[in-house]
Amino acid sequence: MGVMEKIAAKPKAATKVAKVDKKSLPLDRILKMDCIEAMRSLPDACVDMVFADPPYNLQLGGDLQRPDGSQVDAVDDDWDKFDNFAAYDKFTAEWLAEARRILKPDGTLWVIGSYHNIFRVGATLQDQGFWILNDIIWRKSNPMPNFKGTRFTNAHETLIWAAKSEKARYTFHYRSMKTLNDELQMRSDWVIPICGGKERLKLNGTKAHPTQKPEALLYRILLACTNPGDVVLDPFFRNRHHRRGGQAPSAALDRLRA
Ligand SMILES: C[S@@+](CC[C@H](N)C(=O)[O-])C[C@H]1O[C@@H](n2cnc3c(N)ncnc32)[C@H](O)[C@@H]1O
Repeated sequence: MGVMEKIAAKPKAATKVAKVDKKSLPLDRILKMDCIEAMRSLPDACVDMVFADPPYNLQLGGDLQRPDGSQVDAVDDDWDKFDNFAAYDKFTAEWLAEARRILKPDGTLWVIGSYHNIFRVGATLQDQGFWILNDIIWRKSNPMPNFKGTRFTNAHETLIWAAKSEKARYTFHYRSMKTLNDELQMRSDWVIPICGGKERLKLNGTKAHPTQKPEALLYRILLACTNPGDVVLDPFFRNRHHRRGGQAPSAALDRLRA
């Protein structure tokens, strides 16, 4: 038998901001441009959630091969290349500042990254005034092995969930999360497989995007932290070479709408 729980309604944040008419926003569209420029074209406080999957700045040197000699499809795209940490930090500070400006006072930011970038992104967002609510470990149930056997298998990515300020009255559907987790409080470590099978978008038989995120990850985030009618922005949706087919946030939204 289920348990009834009354979750106290939280008053909205006291900060007054002018309401933006949603009709004036480019909803349900891919803005085919640099995301910092695109965000600059949007009014203040018009978005309820930003989900960001920024470049990792992997700094890969040389090819990576499997023990059988085959090539690993690593992230070696130009969009992931930065001259140095300073250049990456500058880029991070710029997109985060715009994301912060367009977020409503009670809106939240989600950023996903790996050990290559998430600590730098985390420090920058704290410096800008964001208030970290959780870091979620996405534990990959089917990670890529460490082919060289020189390090531990890199089996997780980290997501930072942050509010605009400590006082923000952000959305969190505690009850839905508990229901999704067999009546146990949802924890901060999520075991979800990486994209594979039919979900993995392909172009001419090879991966359409090297870092496609699983729909299940986005589904959980959207279910936990948004309400019907909310406006969600994904600044790093996909570049012009990878625009075929659906993508995790939009696919997850379709599932929520169904
Ligand atoms: C880590 S991937 C995101 C993958 C995506 N979440 C998915 O599941 O398919 C980062 C993406 O951001 C894009 N990107 C990088 N810099 C950008 C920028 N300044 N403006 C817009 N998109 C950018 C890249 O082209 C790349 O497709």
